[in-house]
Amino acid sequence: MCGIVGYIGTRQAPQICLAGLRRLEYRGYDSAGIAVVHDGELDVRKVVGKLDTMDEELEKNPLVGTIGIGHTRWATHGKPSVENSHPHLSDNGRIAVVHNGIIENYQELREQLTGEGYEFKSQTDTEVMAHLVQKYYEGNLRAAVCRAVADLEGAFAFGIICADSPGELVAVRRFSPLVVGIGEGENYIASDMGAIRQETDRVYVIDDDEVALITTDGIELTDLDLNPIEREVFVIPWPADAAQKGGHKHFMHKEIHEQPDAMRNCLAGRLSDPGKPIKLEGLNMTEQEIKNLRRVVFTACGTAYHAGLVGRFLMESLARIPSEADLAAELRSRDPVVLDNTLCIVISQSGETADTLVALRDMKAKGAKVISVLNVVDSSIARESDGVVYIQAGPEIGVASTKAYTLQIFTMAMIAIHFAEVRGAADPELIRTLKQDLLNTPKLAEELLAREDDVKAIAAKHYEKPNSLYLARGVNLPSAMEGALKLKEISYIHAEGYSAGEMKHGPIALVEPNLFTVAIVVEGEVYEKMIANIMEIKARSGPVIAVATDGDEQIPATGLDEDADPDDVAAQPNDMIWVPPTHELISPITVAIPLQLLAYHIADMRGEHIDQPRNLAKTVTVE
Ligand code: F6R
Repeated sequence: MCGIVGYIGTRQAPQICLAGLRRLEYRGYDSAGIAVVHDGELDVRKVVGKLDTMDEELEKNPLVGTIGIGHTRWATHGKPSVENSHPHLSDNGRIAVVHNGIIENYQELREQLTGEGYEFKSQTDTEVMAHLVQKYYEGNLRAAVCRAVADLEGAFAFGIICADSPGELVAVRRFSPLVVGIGEGENYIASDMGAIRQETDRVYVIDDDEVALITTDGIELTDLDLNPIEREVFVIPWPADAAQKGGHKHFMHKEIHEQPDAMRNCLAGRLSDPGKPIKLEGLNMTEQEIKNLRRVVFTACGTAYHAGLVGRFLMESLARIPSEADLAAELRSRDPVVLDNTLCIVISQSGETADTLVALRDMKAKGAKVISVLNVVDSSIARESDGVVYIQAGPEIGVASTKAYTLQIFTMAMIAIHFAEVRGAADPELIRTLKQDLLNTPKLAEELLAREDDVKAIAAKHYEKPNSLYLARGVNLPSAMEGALKLKEISYIHAEGYSAGEMKHGPIALVEPNLFTVAIVVEGEVYEKMIANIMEIKARSGPVIAVATDGDEQIPATGLDEDADPDDVAAQPNDMIWVPPTHELISPITVAIPLQLLAYHIADMRGEHIDQPRNLAKTVTVE
């Protein structure tokens, strides 16, 4: 959840750490800190608040040093405060530690260390590590870190410096992400490649229980017993400016606009001709395994779960395999029955979401084959999956997931079509149409983005309303749930995503002029039923924003009551969001784009912190 960055070289470490932390700010933003070793002493600055506050602090009280570690915190143990922010120091003030993750046995260690005379200054779990390293330090920082790690249970990535080992930066991880960046006469550590991509494109991806000893001109990787480890250099596949806003006001806006290109990347090498099979490198399943499948279980959290709901629909409709989609946190708690030939499809942008990772492990332990649909390469989920299909969306920085969502659906549509073809389960004409529609989708996404001003005008009409309802049926029910999640997480407007079929069973009681309803009513199986739902809402004076297929003449006037008072919404046509036609089964991809824009513009008009919504972090690495 938190972000860590470290530097060792000949340049000033505080500035490099701060620049890296800025690129990680989306991960945790209640406080920050930087420590350096200078003239044989540790020097530390900590602030509560955003990184601009740290900038001001460094102006007032400059830090000097060519070795340093930095941290942005999203509180888990102890409130956001200067004492609780990292780096944490050992009792003797000679060792500084930054940490991402959670030390599960910290209470026990804290009691033990307190009994041994160590004085704790914070309420954090991290501080135990600083004291443990001091306890084991006998002149060799790496050896002390390895001994300390042996006492820990839980998840962690640490960066550690020591005033008595001034030429060394030590990093170690278990379950939390960590990379070591390779420079010329300088090196880096980070919890996310994006933090140091500006400095280098060459990294070592550190694995569980591996430790890195980093100096200005060398990086040694070992296990915790100090046995050397050989690791290939990983070249970060995106350009240095990919993690910047590129002229957009927010990362979220930039990422919404990146969708057409991301879709083209996702198609590349996999699907180019509707008459040919889809190639999914990394899937790692034989045709026989696909034919033998008896069940598919999709699991994920949040937005990725909504993509999983679409995946389930596609898998069942096309490949005719009984499928279910479960929230990762729930899947674990209900001890599911896993039959032979069950496939678990895990969906995650970051590949580090703790609940998703644990659900994956549970499903694997029960005998399911696990493939994952991921964005971040070489993440923890990637490494534990039997196969990985990458969505190829590029870095997603905005906390609200946008391009990852559409690309997750895009990728799962390819998987479902592939399975359907291998199993001979669907009409070949339908398969051909869907492939052609997927090939057309990047163009349709461009058209939808070109209509942004229309969506913005609708946002301007409704942004002050306190409540909203998103309704749909069938394959677009997840679109309603995702549209509502997008709106609530960045605008703080109360939003519910509901099956329109459930309206009469309760939610219709909410309808009134101050609640706007977004009704997804594109061409397809559920069209007529959705019309009936719109009429019910208009009859109760609820304003409707309809997402409909280009050329539909019926929807604008649906529910219009010519005899109503002209001030009553029942007398006014519906607000229209038009989407170009595509097969209903893949319409969740196109429908998502204007709903992302609607949420974005409403939040922007309300003046919210779109890229860093309150209480949220991009990657949830704690359960
Ligand atoms: C919402 C959002 C979250 C994530 C969820 C899973 O916009 O981004 O709901 O989808 O935390 O994250 P990943 O996909 O990284 O596993």
